[in-house]
Amino acid sequence: MKKIREYMEEEIRQAFLEAGYEAEYGKVTLSNRPDLCEYQCNGAMAGAKAFRKAPIKIAQEVAERLKDSRWLKEVSVAPPGFLNLTLKEESLAEYLGRMQREDLGLTQVEEPQTILVDYGGPNVAKPLHVGHLRSAIIGESVKRMSRKMGHRVLGDIHLGDWGYQMGLIITELKQRQPQLPYFQEGADDFPEEAPFTIGELEEIYPTASQKAKEDEAYREEALEATKQLQYGHKGYLAIWQHIMKVSTADLKKNYDRLKVSFDLWRGESDAQKDIPDMVSWLKKEGLAHMDQGALVIDVAEDTDTKEVPPCMIQKSDGASLYGTTDLATLIQREREFQPDQVVYVVDKRQELHFVQVFRAAKKTGIVGEDTKLSFLGFGTMNGKDGKPFKTREGGVMRLEYLIQEIADNMYEKISANRTVSEEEGRETAKLVGLAAIKYGDLSNQASKDYIFDVDRFTSFEGNTGPYILYTIVRIKSILARYEEAGGNLDQPVILPPAGDSEKELMLQAARYSEVMEGAAQELAPHKICAYIFELSNSFNRFYHDTRILGEEDAAKKESYIGLLCLTRQILEECIDVLGFEAPERM
Ligand code: ARG
Repeated sequence: MKKIREYMEEEIRQAFLEAGYEAEYGKVTLSNRPDLCEYQCNGAMAGAKAFRKAPIKIAQEVAERLKDSRWLKEVSVAPPGFLNLTLKEESLAEYLGRMQREDLGLTQVEEPQTILVDYGGPNVAKPLHVGHLRSAIIGESVKRMSRKMGHRVLGDIHLGDWGYQMGLIITELKQRQPQLPYFQEGADDFPEEAPFTIGELEEIYPTASQKAKEDEAYREEALEATKQLQYGHKGYLAIWQHIMKVSTADLKKNYDRLKVSFDLWRGESDAQKDIPDMVSWLKKEGLAHMDQGALVIDVAEDTDTKEVPPCMIQKSDGASLYGTTDLATLIQREREFQPDQVVYVVDKRQELHFVQVFRAAKKTGIVGEDTKLSFLGFGTMNGKDGKPFKTREGGVMRLEYLIQEIADNMYEKISANRTVSEEEGRETAKLVGLAAIKYGDLSNQASKDYIFDVDRFTSFEGNTGPYILYTIVRIKSILARYEEAGGNLDQPVILPPAGDSEKELMLQAARYSEVMEGAAQELAPHKICAYIFELSNSFNRFYHDTRILGEEDAAKKESYIGLLCLTRQILEECIDVLGFEAPERM
């Protein structure tokens, strides 16, 4: 189904043609002066140069030809040559009717692509902190919207499950419990049960990391343990497996709580088996070369304004690096999934790394010309002081505590608003709390840093998740009362709008498919947030202006109900794509 803007555009293009100009001048955009009109076309100004004619003249000629438009009630010309457009009420209502019947007007892509989204990226054995929150929230939303458009989408968590942090844990464990079988020469029969709980593991890692910073010998030992693990030390591999099992169980719990899920639980460790072959191939084909003892791929380009250092594949001691792992991971992804696009949702401070990896992958042919590699870099989540978000005591904020704190905060607000059982209140608070966190994050353009302001994010007013949910709940409650009184919600007929706020709401609703498609294409969840904020505002204005259930004219009342159903459906589709849901009451 076409977008409402496209219907208007078709007519305007035709009018440009008929008036003797090129059709492409007939581009229609949303009005940037909503006080004057609903949509606009600036083509006359663009055409003025090419046709050496005053833009106002061109605009008048075009407007003249739109007198019998099917979509436009009014086309007015404003200096220097704007075409100000106002939609016909009948056509708008008709369009909403089609939205009701045809999937809200959303058209899925004709050629679905395979898109792999690399997000989450937690490091095993280290607690999840707020830094990982953004990747999870943004990545989940990108995955959901691409899926909504009909693409085949795979979310891969890409665990940081290999390397030095493992060596650290092994070293610390060995110091504490040298008698364990993992550390005995020649042992190859190990217990099922891990020698630590997740709680202990989370204490072991920071302790070891601190010791390694202060103690040279300890660090050497940890590096040696890392190496032995890589070379297949049986006892160390067994410990690694314990670490994996204990951590991933805990990670799953945390991601479940966030309503974030992955199709693939792969990680850096999975890439290791492809590294040796990749390295020999790169050498043999002359795709990489030695530079000061290290194996590198040059990736600098003439047009670079900043220096882009070579992508390091192997250090002089034979160790591989972060880039090596990412390249080998791409080899696997190609082999297994042949993705058309791979999207990396990672802290923007890692951008240079990805520039190097992407260029190396293209240059070597690890991925083909047509494979799109996208870096969706996000900014830092800061506290109110403008510095990276911390606990009140100044420590690193663990994700689960943050989530709990917000839920408690929401519970207090909800139970102050109305009487509610403890159980229902807590459940509702969880849903609303999650919306507060996710919307607070997603409503900012991903690449920007933002301030995580608990008071603002949990407010029921303003551009917040709770406000959006509040709007949905309000609509649901009106619809429930309508049904209780015997009303039927099965595609109520929507009539042309009679009032301003009614038309405004209808215009907002009609934009849905265009917003969703655009956001999905640009991987820009913030555009969906901006849209549902406007839609909610329009709804609430309409609600304050209108007696809905009290309306006496039955057809009119049915039409209001139809508009409410449509608004609710759109809001729910949008928040689903953003990764949260609305409670029944709040
Ligand atoms: N584990 C990494 C980190 O915490 C993020 C991984 C990002 N993804 C990737 N393919 N490199 O920084």
